[in-house]
Amino acid sequence: NKVWVVIPAAGVGARMQADRPKQYLPLVGKTVIEHTLACFAEHPAVAGIVVAITDGDPYWAELTSIALSEQGTIHTAPGGCERADSVLNALDYLVNTLQVTADTHVLVHDAARPCLSRHDLDALLAAGASEAAGAILAVPVRDTMKRAQTHGLRISHTEERNGLWHALTPQMAALGVLRAALADALQRGLGVTDEASALEHAGLHPLLVEGDARNIKITRPADLALATFFLSNASS
Ligand code: CTP
Ligand code: MG
Repeated sequence: NKVWVVIPAAGVGARMQADRPKQYLPLVGKTVIEHTLACFAEHPAVAGIVVAITDGDPYWAELTSIALSEQGTIHTAPGGCERADSVLNALDYLVNTLQVTADTHVLVHDAARPCLSRHDLDALLAAGASEAAGAILAVPVRDTMKRAQTHGLRISHTEERNGLWHALTPQMAALGVLRAALADALQRGLGVTDEASALEHAGLHPLLVEGDARNIKITRPADLALATFFLSNASS
């Protein structure tokens, strides 16, 4: 059974402090988002991709003219105020415009994560295919984790590190379940920053699939140098 991929790409990249949204910055021969799309574009399990982009985004239009024009499988949906709004818009597009059925699995993956490996994508697809509660790529926390006091910068206590994970993307779930969970979380103003947290609010317990820590989200300027290194040494 094929999956659909949703790529939220409607952020402004404020923390990157660049002259354009970070997904359109150059990285090893193409833009960040072109690396991200390439992870999925030729995968045999992928039915198609919906990219959420800001209305009137000039950078996307530039890309489509050069690299994406032949990709009939890449669609766009309007971005929203927060990442979750962008994802929900793309899910709505899948349901309303493309008539994708509710039991079809979708993978949501940040445009700003260009270093996803084929190995990790395949691991998630394999683990998530039979998961009613969803599944996400994640890596175990390595550092000792401190909880700060409510005010100021003093340590309150050390959090138990065992069992703590960093949530990555892609995050996978059935279209109908995820759409309902996200819509509900947004309506309740829960401020969800990933798909799994919406599913958790719906009482589900998505599966953690251990992935590679190199699947970083480009957030701050130094992350571009890291991604450059990872993509240039992709076979290691
Ligand atoms: N995103 C989106 N719609 C939004 C906000 C974010 O589609 N309203 C996307 C971003 O384009 C990115 C992903 O969600 O691919 C992860 O978000 P984040 O890293 O926070 O990106 P930005 O919001 O662009 O960055 P910043 O928070 O620094 O402004
Ligand atoms: Mg953001």
